[in-house]
Amino acid sequence: MKTPAYVYDAKSIINILDTINSIKQDTNFLFLYSIKSSSNFGLLEMIKPHVDGFSCSSMFELQLAKEVLDSNQITHITTPGFNRDEFDKIINLTDFISFNSLTQLTQYSKKIKPTSSFGLRINPQLSFVSDQRFDPCRSFSKLGIPLSHFKKKMECDKIDWSVIDGIHIHNNCESINFNEMKQTANKVMSVFKENDVSLKWINLGGGYLIDNRNDVSVLKETIKWLQDDYNVDVYFEPGKAITGESGYLIASVIDLFQHEDENIAVLDTSINHLPEVFEYQYRPKVMNSFSISKYKYHITGCSCLSGDLFGEYSFQEPLKLGSQIIFENIGAYMQVKANMFNGINLPAAYLLDKNSNFKLLKEYDYNYFRSRL
Ligand SMILES: Cc1ncc(COP(=O)(O)O)c(C=O)c1O
Repeated sequence: MKTPAYVYDAKSIINILDTINSIKQDTNFLFLYSIKSSSNFGLLEMIKPHVDGFSCSSMFELQLAKEVLDSNQITHITTPGFNRDEFDKIINLTDFISFNSLTQLTQYSKKIKPTSSFGLRINPQLSFVSDQRFDPCRSFSKLGIPLSHFKKKMECDKIDWSVIDGIHIHNNCESINFNEMKQTANKVMSVFKENDVSLKWINLGGGYLIDNRNDVSVLKETIKWLQDDYNVDVYFEPGKAITGESGYLIASVIDLFQHEDENIAVLDTSINHLPEVFEYQYRPKVMNSFSISKYKYHITGCSCLSGDLFGEYSFQEPLKLGSQIIFENIGAYMQVKANMFNGINLPAAYLLDKNSNFKLLKEYDYNYFRSRL
């Protein structure tokens, strides 16, 4: 296997999908994978048999989802960015669509198709995320119709509820606390109850991490309560939970030298292959590294940007030219955002299959670089 390479561990992804599907057995909710987090074609093919459908955030994602899914599987879409020119195609493709604002609802409700179900994205105005950049309920948020608008009965009455079947909520990020989901659903549904609005479905969004180490009893309780008390179909559309921990970036050391008595190791990759490292000043985990150990290095990318730095990492053995550095927990929101800045080729993508074979999913080359320019 050449480096740099993104590697997705199939066994670990299937384990998570099985864990979610075991919750499904008890509660019968509908499970969508949010493809924005990692939409490599080979990954989608692998995830497809384990889900009821995909959730999408643009026309291209929707086209991709439809290409991969079987005809009995479903798609949901919501976005603050419906483009007038794309809307007819979107409405023809999607099964469920949630409008992000009342302006969108007014603009597009005449285009209703009997084949798709309409919903509204509600902003529950309940924040659990301390970093505003990840908080859908941040101040002046563009994401969803503020719940307080529905509290004013007048506002609620202005909506033609005969065209709306459901609501969509997404207000968390990497949470493992399903009490936050329960609290959110409770806050939102009580307002709809007060206004005598009945719904056919609720989409609880993503933003939660699920694996067999987390307690999911409150998730089950919340789904059952929504089904029993409100008679709605419940959808859940996690992204990062499915692929985040199962993804690795493997890179090689291509240069080693000292600067001001510190060791510098240059890799054959760049932070542009893990863009959230720079965007959010996030420190990726490196396999077999320690916070304090004998051999300390500034691990850097190979682009011209001086801030192309992964951070300081220490190892028990000295690095050599050709040593491999393995970044962990990078399976979501990394490959989908990666770019070819400086003309540096993108890492190839591999699936580590259940027999421990590396299967090539995607490789990039000069023509790919050139065609984007
Ligand atoms: C509407 C919506 N649904 C689902 C997701 C997936 O979230 P996560 O990957 O955190 O589970 C996102 C992420 O931004 C989102 O905006």
